[in-house]
Amino acid sequence: MKTLKQRAVLRDLEATVEENLSRHLAVAEDWMPHEYVPWSQGRDFARLGGEPWSAGQSALSPIARTAMELNLLTEDNLPSYHRELARSFGRENAWGAWLNRWTAEEGRHASAIRDYLLVTRAVDPERLERARMAAVQAGFDAGNKALLNACAYVSFQELATRITHRNTGRYSADPVAAKLLARVAMDENLHMVFYRNLVTAALEIAPGQTVRAIAEEVTGFAMPGSVVPGFGRMAAQIAHAGIYDLRTHHDDVVMPLLRHWRVFELEGLGSEGEQAREDLAAALGTLDARATRFTERRAAASSLI
Ligand SMILES: [Fe+2]
Ligand SMILES: [Fe+2]
Repeated sequence: MKTLKQRAVLRDLEATVEENLSRHLAVAEDWMPHEYVPWSQGRDFARLGGEPWSAGQSALSPIARTAMELNLLTEDNLPSYHRELARSFGRENAWGAWLNRWTAEEGRHASAIRDYLLVTRAVDPERLERARMAAVQAGFDAGNKALLNACAYVSFQELATRITHRNTGRYSADPVAAKLLARVAMDENLHMVFYRNLVTAALEIAPGQTVRAIAEEVTGFAMPGSVVPGFGRMAAQIAHAGIYDLRTHHDDVVMPLLRHWRVFELEGLGSEGEQAREDLAAALGTLDARATRFTERRAAASSLI
């Protein structure tokens, strides 16, 4: 298998980045986060002589609050994501321009969701702030991913984030939250399309190497929010509620992208690429079986209630 060095991959994909940055700028809507926040519900907290936070002040269900809190804390770690992607993409030309644009858009997500949660008193603001401090200080380390791995990872991650935001909004049963999170999800979708197109181009330039990167990122996938304090407990509640679970991950995130890339129909992968595709098939089998076990256990547990 022809293995391209990082520098060659950056150079070979630059025209695709440029083209997709222009396409993105033409279709991305410059939405205003303040328009999505119900400011009329806002009031002072204790230090300004107002009422301190208490759990009964919001009608949102505990699981909807947990999901929104985890979504926000995940978005809050943007400085780390920027650093990790800058390490892979560099700061030059269209790569750098895209990264800065993407960062500016992602920053809007955290500020809009935080405003919503504070104004509606849906989460404990002190706990939220302490968790944000802890998550940002822990940082997110992508582990020095090679460029193709970074592109594959963010394709899956942006799609996962789109689905999480969208499903959280629906689950919240609050039309204001649903509208805000649907708006954020539209951004995540455009981000996913950008990275997905890079991977598509990479499959043409270096198919075997790209399939290897995809296989590695499917196998070791972890959500960027995994550094948030209490992530395991929160993710379990979110999975139990059906907002995002292993079945969602397999059916709605991994498989649609693999189908789009026609990974199992590609030819000319070379022996290493073929091996990578076999490893990918094995990883998918394991993920599918785990997803089935999880949904069976969940169904059994709910039938006992
Ligand atoms: Fe985001
Ligand atoms: Fe995004």
